[in-house]
Amino acid sequence: MATVLVKNGRVITADSDSVCDILVEDEIITAIGKNLPVQADEIIDATGKLVLPGGIDPHVHLDMPFMGTFSSDTHETGTRAALHGGTTTVIDFVLQKQGHSLREALTEWQSRANGTAVGDYSFHMAVTDFNPSTKEEIKDMVAEGITSFKTFMAYKGALMIDDAQMVGLMQEVKKHGGLVTAHATNGDLIDTLIAQHRAAGKLTPRYHYLSQPEVTEAEASGRFCDIANYTGVNAYIVHLTCEGALNKVRRATERNQRVLVETCIQYLLLDASLYGEEFEGAKWVMSPPLREKKDQDTLWAGINQGLVQVVGTDHCPFMWEQKLMGKDDFSRIPNGHPAIEHRMELLFSEGVMKGRISPQKFVEVTSTNAAKIFGMFPRKGTISIGADADLILIDPRKKHTISAETHHMNVDYSSYEGWELTGKIDTVLLRGKVAVDHGETKVGRGYGQFIKRGKVGF
Ligand code: URP
Ligand code: ZN
Ligand code: ZN
Ligand code: ZN
Repeated sequence: MATVLVKNGRVITADSDSVCDILVEDEIITAIGKNLPVQADEIIDATGKLVLPGGIDPHVHLDMPFMGTFSSDTHETGTRAALHGGTTTVIDFVLQKQGHSLREALTEWQSRANGTAVGDYSFHMAVTDFNPSTKEEIKDMVAEGITSFKTFMAYKGALMIDDAQMVGLMQEVKKHGGLVTAHATNGDLIDTLIAQHRAAGKLTPRYHYLSQPEVTEAEASGRFCDIANYTGVNAYIVHLTCEGALNKVRRATERNQRVLVETCIQYLLLDASLYGEEFEGAKWVMSPPLREKKDQDTLWAGINQGLVQVVGTDHCPFMWEQKLMGKDDFSRIPNGHPAIEHRMELLFSEGVMKGRISPQKFVEVTSTNAAKIFGMFPRKGTISIGADADLILIDPRKKHTISAETHHMNVDYSSYEGWELTGKIDTVLLRGKVAVDHGETKVGRGYGQFIKRGKVGF
């Protein structure tokens, strides 16, 4: 049996904060206490460092076929980059192909991820074609540990389902104790605006942003809340960006409905002023688009109000050459941007170090809440006896600068080039093994395990 002792760190969970030692035996935490009187094969001195649960990013798209190409990080490169940024587990989206089964999609994704991922991973199933045979497959997916079902209310003709399919899916998922999540934007309204802009010769990336105004998200978010309330299913909105949409959730809470909300790091830190007339704005062409300063303020407040439970990334990187597919037409720019590696350090620096959120809230929104919501708690998402030893050590004063020159993601630009951050994740343990140490990767292709998830909820 291999043993590791993490000594004398400031150990922070969602509800505790104390200087102590953590003993790890093989993959599991077996003791926590002050000055543990034990020996170990490996001792990690965490004096002056913060020791937190490994991050969970529940919104990533690895090696995903989308808009005529594939996202550029594979399960290997994406999970390796995630580890470098302290994210030890990701949940990736399997996409059902319209006209085909959920099982076929799952088999395809397993063939790409199993044996290649470096960090731990799980899958959501995106239901893009709900019909009588899909309905029969829901219970099979739950039995596989895939307990969350993603819906797209936009991307008509590729991924979008209509409200009739949404009701049917929610009813079936509820029967099997799962969770329905939504990309909640009004696809028809967006497609109309895209067509109008194209017809008028308005083709720069800025018109991607102008084709998805706040109302497109607020309307769909409200509709999703209402249908979820009617069916009684566990509901979660992915990548929520704006005040109008969060107000629909706030309204739902007034009838004592619980709708879980994820925002993503970019919506807290970046805004729509990045969409100028130059093609460079394509770096941030994602859906929904970046919003306004007032929306950032709403989201930070929403985190502290407990209305926003999760900060993910929606990591969906494309090389610059892939972005150029849309150089003459914004509607052909592959939607998505890279973020998997920097979510934790960005939120730590801009959130904790700038006093916007507490260290406990940081742990909640980067790890614990996702573990609870998606059925991995307490194996993942906390530091407790019996949990997987997924730990990150942060040097809270160390400064560093983000750059595409030094990042580990398989993409040739950074959305945060030149950003100076305070707080560096120096050491990362995944299931008891040092996975990253001061910039060096210590585990290889295939170390990552599929995490079968259980009961969802909160
Ligand atoms: O622009 C984005 N978000 N690309 C990935 C697919 C999605 O909508 O999440
Ligand atoms: Zn088929
Ligand atoms: Zn989406
Ligand atoms: Zn996404």
